[in-house]
Amino acid sequence: MSSLHTKTIPASDMPDRPAFNWLEDTGEDADLTVMTRDVTKIYQMGEEKIHALGGVNIKIATGEYISIMGPSGSGKTTLFNVIGGLIKPTSGNVFIDEIDVAQLDANELAWLRCRKIGYIFQSYNIVKVLTALENVTLPMLFAGVPPDEAQDRAVYILGRVGLGDRVLHTPKELSGGQQQRVAIARAFANKPSIILADEPTANLDLKTGE
Ligand SMILES: Nc1ncnc2c1ncn2[C@@H]1O[C@H](COP(=O)(O)OP(=O)(O)O)[C@@H](O)[C@H]1O
Ligand SMILES: [Mg+2]
Repeated sequence: MSSLHTKTIPASDMPDRPAFNWLEDTGEDADLTVMTRDVTKIYQMGEEKIHALGGVNIKIATGEYISIMGPSGSGKTTLFNVIGGLIKPTSGNVFIDEIDVAQLDANELAWLRCRKIGYIFQSYNIVKVLTALENVTLPMLFAGVPPDEAQDRAVYILGRVGLGDRVLHTPKELSGGQQQRVAIARAFANKPSIILADEPTANLDLKTGE
């Protein structure tokens, strides 16, 4: 792990929230994994416009570990979804490994989401009817990994997050923190180059969180 940047999103009242910007933080030559340019997101709720992102410029270099902090409602999850290609920004661009995500067709985007990015959602989004093992194996099957190999790797990753003795449990047979660890294990399944995590340690004790 190289440098640790911790930035706080200015969360002044919408809709005049200032842009946040740390372009100056990484060297120009750095190997970039994620870059955003003037990303805005406005949610239209009937007549009302909600300005969730007010022009975000970030660069994240390969190997960098960045945490974004801000109060509830300041746009963290929106930024997670935009960088992860799960929602489109209202304006601006998101580049993953120098590719403009907006230029990708549906298949290319699906490929990117499956292999390049590991998602740890705030609400886990693990599949309730599948065991921990099946939840972690599934993304590898989508990526074409042979089933035996996928299962071996899933067992290994679940061991790494301390769930070696819980592989056959379904989510309802696991605690909140254990479910979160299944979600973390799943995010690592396809050896993604980017891990996006939305409040990944909210339900873990300090030691497990680390
Ligand atoms: N799908 C949505 N539709 C409308 N408004 C939304 C939607 N998602 C988030 N918002 C609003 O956008 C703002 C930012 O939300 P969010 O990105 O979830 O913040 P955070 O994760 O920092 O708590 C909030 O005011 C929220 O109510
Ligand atoms: Mg959130």
